Amino acid sequence: MELPHQKQRTFEPSAEAQAGANVAGMEAYRALAADAERDYAGFWGGLAREAIDWRKPFSKVLDESAAPFYTWFEDGELNASYNCLDRHVASGHGDRVAIVFEADDGTVTRVTYAQMLARVARFANALKRRGIKRGDRVVIYMPMSIEGIVAMQACARLGATHSVVFGGFSAKSLHERIVDVGAVALITADEQVRGGKTLPLKQIADEALAMGNCDVVRSVIVYRRTGGEVAWDTSRDAWMHEIVANESDICEPEWVGAEHPLFILYTSGSTGKPKGVQHSTGGYLLWAVQTMKWTFDWKREDVFWCTADIGWITGHTYIAYGPLALGATQVVFEGVPTYPDAGRFWKMIADHQVSLFYTAPTAIRSLTKAADADESVHPARYDLASLRIIGTVGEPINPEAWLWYRRHVGGERCPVVDTWWQTETGGHMIAPLPGATPTVPGSCTLPLPGIMAAVVDETGQSVPDGQGGILVVKRPWPSMVRTIWGDPERFKASYYPPELGGTLYLAGDGAVRDPETGYFTITGRIDDVLNVSGHRLGTMEIESALVAHELVAEAAVVGRPDATTGEAVVAFVTLKRARPEGEEAEQLAKTLRDWVGKEIGPIAKPKEIRFGDNLPKTRSGKIMRRLLRSLAKGDAIVQDTSTLENPEILDQLGRAV
Ligand code: PRX
Repeated sequence: MELPHQKQRTFEPSAEAQAGANVAGMEAYRALAADAERDYAGFWGGLAREAIDWRKPFSKVLDESAAPFYTWFEDGELNASYNCLDRHVASGHGDRVAIVFEADDGTVTRVTYAQMLARVARFANALKRRGIKRGDRVVIYMPMSIEGIVAMQACARLGATHSVVFGGFSAKSLHERIVDVGAVALITADEQVRGGKTLPLKQIADEALAMGNCDVVRSVIVYRRTGGEVAWDTSRDAWMHEIVANESDICEPEWVGAEHPLFILYTSGSTGKPKGVQHSTGGYLLWAVQTMKWTFDWKREDVFWCTADIGWITGHTYIAYGPLALGATQVVFEGVPTYPDAGRFWKMIADHQVSLFYTAPTAIRSLTKAADADESVHPARYDLASLRIIGTVGEPINPEAWLWYRRHVGGERCPVVDTWWQTETGGHMIAPLPGATPTVPGSCTLPLPGIMAAVVDETGQSVPDGQGGILVVKRPWPSMVRTIWGDPERFKASYYPPELGGTLYLAGDGAVRDPETGYFTITGRIDDVLNVSGHRLGTMEIESALVAHELVAEAAVVGRPDATTGEAVVAFVTLKRARPEGEEAEQLAKTLRDWVGKEIGPIAKPKEIRFGDNLPKTRSGKIMRRLLRSLAKGDAIVQDTSTLENPEILDQLGRAV
């Protein structure tokens, strides 16, 4: 938001970046944006016909009659897996490498499009044999692997809706999602391997299924990753490699309507219960393809690498669907950026000649730190000349990290694309076009053509540029969330709140637009959602986990800015017994951190826990979170505390344990 300061640091796309770009120059960007303004349906309809092979063409682009439950290309029919695999093989590209998989230990496996199609078909046939059919929900709890992508694609092929649960979530979180989505099958692995350590996924899955209400889960299919020991229930469990052994590698795709739910992905909201974000097939796939072409300027020769996990939306759109739908060659990585050392990403870029690289600010910050401490893992030590475009996603990127990334990874040559979007948006929303948009560190720049982003106040009225406000999207777009699984009312209340007039999509982020350039800078969440290392966490989810512990009476969770993880979780806790101090407090804090790890997953563990006799409350008993945020940061309390009933508590909570 330091606008004058930022203006001095504008980076024009180089002549090289502009030459031959899919969108070359700002004129071309403006022309596209103007096309969308002029004829919204025509614009999207044209893109959809080009990006997707339709089994049956659609006759209508957008139906707003049941707003905000918009539908796109509704009478069109397609299959996502057909678009990702068959069509490339049919057009003679079966021998092209689809995935270059690098395992944690460095072992590399390559799969061509023809091989991928055969594997997906065999697995889809095996699923079919186990009764899995169109409309069923299948939970996937797998490590980063070719098999994980095969599982997603096989579901898509059958018209079964997948719901991938990140491998770092606990048995309890997995259970909650299996039950909410009503899964008939669970696909998992014996173990996950990351950074030389294993995690017993099958065991966690067994624990989840034993928690009750999972009777509808008829099959558990297990990918053998390590051969580690697992418990086995012969009535339910089957090895992935065994059930595909005798299957045909031909499987006719199930043609589905464009609105058919391709997947449901859970994400945190401001209440305790995660939201099952439901995506469509047609509109979603269109935007996955289009943003690959626009934001990453994807070309046939590119080697694309997105470092996200398939358990998050980024791994859905920019690993499992976008690159495959284009027939791209992509790198998929099992491990972590710091193993065996913090030069792993740079080594892999060089080894696989990656040209388009996409990662998270938190990774950049931690690798900067590592490079500063140990010259041997500095990106300068590696040959990164293959890189053409480098991107970031997941959280605001501080200008320092952005500049380091551009300089040391991008060689001052590659455009940095800071992409703002969300689980709910399906794909990029605000991002530079590398061959067109001049970039500014810390700004995601301009909405992509067709995306009508704006900044408004609490009543939905526009705010002047330069003044912060609420980020909204004024018109529906094809890849948007369709509903919250099983809870359409929550969908309406969360994303189309009546306070904003009911027609604006509420993103949940704050933003400010530059008066001169119209560039957006995201200022962070405006609700009770935290962003820790690019992972979205609800404060209420963590609070619910804490109060589920027998010793905890009350808990309030807030975020604190953190130099590496972006935000850190700080929990204020009162116990059902006297406030612990010293050694005892430290012990208890550890117990509670581990407890949260078990309840939700290690990503949700509070960095710090402070114990108090009480929490700061108003006379009506409402916890004053803004005060807790100041205390967590170690700031002096300058806010008005006149409504606070127990001001003396601030002193007690202000001190870290
Ligand atoms: O707060 C924004 C932040 O991440 C949130 C979305 O999180 P999730 O649904 O998990 O999806 C992450 C991957 C798309 C947003 O509401 N966020 C995401 N990208 C950016 C960002 N904040 C600032 N700049 C970004 N580029």
